[in-house]
Amino acid sequence: MNIAVLGAQWGDEGKGKIVDLLTPHFSIVARYQGGHNAGHTVYVGGKKFVLRLIPSGILHPDTVCVIGNGVVLDPQALFAEIEQLEQVGIAVGNRIVISNRAHLILPYHRELDVFAEAQRGERKIGTTSRGIGPAYEDKIGRRGIRVGDLGDPAPAVPLADVVRDNVEARNRLLHDSHLDWRAVLDQLLAAWERMRPWVRDVSVFLAEARRSGRRVLFEGAQGTMLDIDHGTYPYVTSSNGTIGGVCTGLGVGPRAIDGVLGVAKAYTTRVGDGPMPTELIDAVGERLRAAGHEFGAVTGRPRRCGWFDAVVVRHAARVNGLDALALTKLDVLDGFDEVRLCTAYRLGSATIQEFPAELGIVSRCEPVYETFPGWKGTAGIRRYDDLPAETRRYVARLEEVTGVPAGIVSTGSDRDDVIVRLDGCVARWLEP
Ligand code: IMP
Repeated sequence: MNIAVLGAQWGDEGKGKIVDLLTPHFSIVARYQGGHNAGHTVYVGGKKFVLRLIPSGILHPDTVCVIGNGVVLDPQALFAEIEQLEQVGIAVGNRIVISNRAHLILPYHRELDVFAEAQRGERKIGTTSRGIGPAYEDKIGRRGIRVGDLGDPAPAVPLADVVRDNVEARNRLLHDSHLDWRAVLDQLLAAWERMRPWVRDVSVFLAEARRSGRRVLFEGAQGTMLDIDHGTYPYVTSSNGTIGGVCTGLGVGPRAIDGVLGVAKAYTTRVGDGPMPTELIDAVGERLRAAGHEFGAVTGRPRRCGWFDAVVVRHAARVNGLDALALTKLDVLDGFDEVRLCTAYRLGSATIQEFPAELGIVSRCEPVYETFPGWKGTAGIRRYDDLPAETRRYVARLEEVTGVPAGIVSTGSDRDDVIVRLDGCVARWLEP
């Protein structure tokens, strides 16, 4: 069995922890999109790890981690992450495989990201300023530079010409400073020398691995509502974090994916701008933020918080064909007098069941809530039946309105604070 783990909301759902939990059952963890805009946080023995580019599987000593062609890769960010891991005794060695088709993020992409945000003014997206969007723009604009291009012995267009043209285009746009293309080229060639042992054709690598019986976990970054096609466009990232991204971003066929796990918080958060129907700009929202430590893992920005939005997760279930949910941070809801669940939106006299494409409509939608009595004491619980009856009622209703069973429930930040429900498909996926 190979399974995909991806975000069912606006990112930050706790995918890092879930991937870390599942990794011992897989030999390979493969990232298929995004870049170091992601921040996958994992706590092991009370120690916090934030992984941005390298799949969270790296924390397990025998796991091979793949960076697919759909990822945009900043070599300096990669080296910094490897060094951080090595400082805490996690050897990367030959456990990473980088696609020769992955596109590079270069210093001018970061500058262009900041520039584009400033140009947008009030309509800014609230990007992570990592150069993600501009790198994908160059890819789609067919002027990007791929990892493998750095080592191409006989390129159709010399690498130096591509770098010079791209840097000069940047210099024309940003008048305030002049970037020397030769310095960029030298940096790229130095990066290639370091990366080359890891660079491969990932599609071929995964096909061979699967033929020899190795199991693959496909790791998504960001979330369905940040997907370039299915998210709240234009307030999205520039890649497909939804299920189709697995095939395009790694070079595998759809039948390589045996199960799809959507990760969702027991409430909703969003970082950056754009609509969020259940956002709470009040003391309850503040309390969720404080209890859930809802500050961006990459940028430190406070996250916007609100109740669970089943319209969003139904959208994610349909777009991704979710088989199960991993419901995270359930313990953050401990101690509230009441807990609410948004089951639909109201627009005038109409009830809206499916997430609208038009942001003008979304912004006029009011959440329709069901209210549940609060509960206490879910933190650290590791058996489903030990959860308070009120919590189980909430989860059961959440499953009903999203149409997806919660195969995993997470009740705390540590690796072991988790319930895998034995009667669900997740337990079956994990059988040897
Ligand atoms: P970009 O990916 O840096 O271009 O940012 C685009 C939008 O996606 C912004 O709203 C970011 O805050 C959001 N975003 C990007 N990566 C993540 C993530 O890993 N978690 C949550 N939000 C993200």
